[in-house]
Parts: sequence; C-alpha cells; structure tokens
Amino acid sequence: MVRRILILTVALVLQYASVIQAAEPDASPRGNTTAVLTKLKVDLELARTQTAVPGMSVAIIHKGKLIFAEGFGKRNKKDPFTPETRSMLGSVTKAFTATAVAELVAEGKMDWDTTPVNTYLPEFETINPVLTAQLTMQDLLSHRTNFPSVDFNWFWSFGESRLDLIKRYRHVEAAAKVAGEPIEQVVRNKVLRPLGLTNTGFSLPELIKHPNHAAPFRAETYADAKAGRFTSLPLDDPPPNDVAAGDMYSSALDLAKWGQVVMKGGMQNGKQVLSKDGIESTLTAHTIAYPAERDPDFALSVQYGMGWMLNSYKGNNVFEHGGRTPGYLTNLALFPNADLVVAFLTNSDLTALPQSATYHIVDELLGLRKTKDWLKKAADDTEQYLARDAMRRNGTFPERILNKPATHELSAYAGEYDHPGFGTTTIRLEGGKLHITLAAFKGVLAHYHYDSFTTALEMSTVRMGQLITFSTGTDGKVSEISFTIMGTFVTGKKRQ
Ligand SMILES: *[C@@H]1O[C@H](CO)[C@@H](O)[C@H](O)[C@H]1NC(C)=O
Ligand SMILES: *[C@@H]1O[C@H](CO)[C@@H](O)[C@H](O)[C@H]1NC(C)=O
Repeated sequence: MVRRILILTVALVLQYASVIQAAEPDASPRGNTTAVLTKLKVDLELARTQTAVPGMSVAIIHKGKLIFAEGFGKRNKKDPFTPETRSMLGSVTKAFTATAVAELVAEGKMDWDTTPVNTYLPEFETINPVLTAQLTMQDLLSHRTNFPSVDFNWFWSFGESRLDLIKRYRHVEAAAKVAGEPIEQVVRNKVLRPLGLTNTGFSLPELIKHPNHAAPFRAETYADAKAGRFTSLPLDDPPPNDVAAGDMYSSALDLAKWGQVVMKGGMQNGKQVLSKDGIESTLTAHTIAYPAERDPDFALSVQYGMGWMLNSYKGNNVFEHGGRTPGYLTNLALFPNADLVVAFLTNSDLTALPQSATYHIVDELLGLRKTKDWLKKAADDTEQYLARDAMRRNGTFPERILNKPATHELSAYAGEYDHPGFGTTTIRLEGGKLHITLAAFKGVLAHYHYDSFTTALEMSTVRMGQLITFSTGTDGKVSEISFTIMGTFVTGKKRQ
C-alpha cells in the first residue's frame, strides 16, 4: 500500500514537473544543445565587447565530442581570432610541467615525496638548511613551501637569468637534470608529442613566428575597453625565464584536447598515453589554495593539486587553472562528472571573462539552476580590475606631511639592499637624483616626507607606483629599505 502511494506520488510529481517545464517560457533554450550553443555564441560575443577582450577563442568538448570551437574578435589589428589561433598560456603551463614530472616519476626516475630535491640537484638551497634537506618535488610543485615569491612568477619573469630563477624553480631544474635534457624538451617528449598537440609550444619569440598567433593587448580604462580602444603591447619584452611556470602557448583546440586527456586519467582514443597514477597525483589535493570561499555555488575551500585548482561547482567537480602574462589571459576547466572541458584563450590580460564565462557555459549547457548572471559579473569585475590597475600604476600613498626633509644627504641612501626572496635593490645617485633598480624594474625617486620617496617602477608596459622608505640604524647610518610590492611588505638590508 505504502509502496503504491509512493509510486503514485512520484508519478504525480514527475507529471507536474513536466507540466511546469513545458509551461515555462523558454528564454534560454535549455535541454536543446544545438540551440544552447547558438545562443552561447551570441552571448559570448556580447560579453567580449563588455569585458576588455579584443579577441578570444573557446573550445568545448562534451561527452567526448568537440561541440563548440569558435573564435571571436581579432587576434591582431586586422585578422580574426580563430580556434586555431595560438596564444600565451601563463600559469596554465604549470599543469604541463607537473605532468611531465609525473611521467618521470612513473618511469621510476624520481619520486614525489620521499627523496629530497637536494638529492637530485645538490645545488638546490633555500635560506633554511633544514628545509633544504627535506623539501621534495611534491612540496615544490604544490606550492607547499614558504617561498615568498611563488605568486610573483610574473614579476620575476622579467630580465632575470635562469640561474637566479633556479632559486624559485628548483623542481624544474631537478626534473631536467634527472631527464638529462631541458624541461621544455621533457614536456615536448613526454606530453606534447604523444598527445599530438602540434599547436602547443614554448616562449613568446617562438609563438610570434607562427602566422596564426595572437598579439597581446591591454585597455587603459573600462571606457576604452568598451569602446574597443586597446593598446598594443610590445613583443620585444625581455624573454621570460620561468619557462616551467608560465611560458607555453597553445590554441583553444589543443588546450581542450589536452584537458580531455587529463580528465580521462591519461587516456586518449582508448589508449593510455600518460601515466594514470601520474595524472591522479596532479589532481589530488596537496594544499589549500583559498581557505575561505563563501559562495555556496563552490566548495568551502579551493585545494591545490599540482598545476590544478580543485573545486566543485553546484555539485560538479572542477579541475581548473587560469593563466596571465602581459596581454594574454587564459582559462582551462575540466568537469569530470559532467564529462565536459572548456578551454578559453584571450589576448587581453585585464579581463574577468574567461573564468566567469566558463561558469556561464556550464550553467547553460548542463541546465544548472541559475544563481547569478556570470556575464554581468565578468563585466563588473573587469571594470574593477581596470580601476585597480590604474591605482597600481599610480600607487597609493599615505597623506603627505609637508616640509619634512630627508634626514640624510641623498648620497647616504645610495647603495645595495639585499632581500632573500626579492634579491638586490640598487639605489644610485645620478644627476642629483636617486635612481632605483629592482629586478628589471627601474625608477627615479622623488622626495615625499622624512625618509620616504615616491617612484614609479617601470619595465616595458608595466608600471607600479611605489613609496620607498629608508630606515636609520643605531649608528646613525642608513641601514634598510622598505616597500610594499604586490601586497608583500619587503625590507632589504643595506650592504655595508
Ligand atoms: C533545437 O534547436 C534548434 C535550433 O534552434 C532547432 O532547429 C531544433 O528544432 C531544436 N530541437 C528540438 C528537439 O527542439
Ligand atoms: C593617476 O595619475 C594621473 C596623473 O597624475 C591622473 O590623471 C589619474 O587620475 C590617476 N589615476 C588614478 C586612478 O588615481
């Protein structure tokens, strides 16, 4: 009896549900993939014009089929951006590197968490000898170290020699040493070639040799972006040296293909092309990247695997990573239980579109409950990014206290100041003015108040307004330099 009532109830509910569905006006054509994709194309083009993107491409693989591959806008000043257009990947590179290392681990040439990196690479050192003796590949690849500069890949990518960068990317050097070839070659041999990723490679100089490459752009303000006024970024930046963290390029089609193989645990067309255990270790949580997410659409915290952020979206697992280099922004997201891959490339670096639009795509394609207008959010966030970038370019300073001269002669501030993570800041007196050099950034100091000076640190297209403050030691001599760079307070000691 109870059973019959239950069956009846279920039948009634189902019937009722279908009535509701049929009665609902079909604003978004959910359930009809062809119609969803047609509308998506229109949505994305509109969103592009509102989110500071001159050109972009999107590729979607659903249930093993490439269901969407579109280009939008322009890849340079005249040619269309296509799904084949090659564009820089930024940190989306990390998953390729981690996977190449995973292949070496699978071959038994190295291990994740038993042998210290120091054993593979005796030159490996950190400022803490105990740490040096213990750090493993997994620690380095999952950001499980106390290096202050992990989020500064981009900053350090300008003008440093690879030798200096070794301090920060020892895992890569260790892997290269074990493999007996440069890391680019390891990634090419272990990942790109076996998977047939023929539109994927390394470095900006190599990218721009290809006829169908995206040129990098940036908008100065949101109004400029909406009006389609973009500044072309130069292609002659000093070549970045952090190859393993952010120097690869790819096309939307290749990126989606790569995502599909990762999502399928290393399988491609029914063949195991990458180590299943290797892929699994890159997709296993090792650290907490964002401890407090409070948007109920997502997991309570975002975990970091190796090259992937691990999250969940409305009950679907998500493996995702974004990437940014000057003039390019990229996102790759895998939704394994929905059997869905979304690859997104753009040639603008101050836009919120790639990640937000990915969630719009997922909502539409899977017919998920709508909780926010992702494309409006992308436009709002982009407006904020551009405003924040303008502030960063100018700098934000405390209120100036007038008529408070410096405590020392200008020449007393000149010298070299050392910081274990940021390296050496050089202050030079030239033509009656103090000049600063930090990595590849340069600027001229203007006195502000007491021992503080303002400057704009500039490198190619990047400009950071800074307040530089000097301190005096017990002996009355200038002893330290301090500034806040990208949110980190840095103090360097003056070399005596
Ligand atoms: C799905 O949408 C397409 C394009 O709008 C339309 O031609 C087709 O008839 C629709 N299919 C169904 C089953 O409604
Ligand atoms: C940055 O400085 C310029 C020139 O001093 C000024 O015109 C502009 O409004 C400033 N922008 C911001 C966001 O403070």
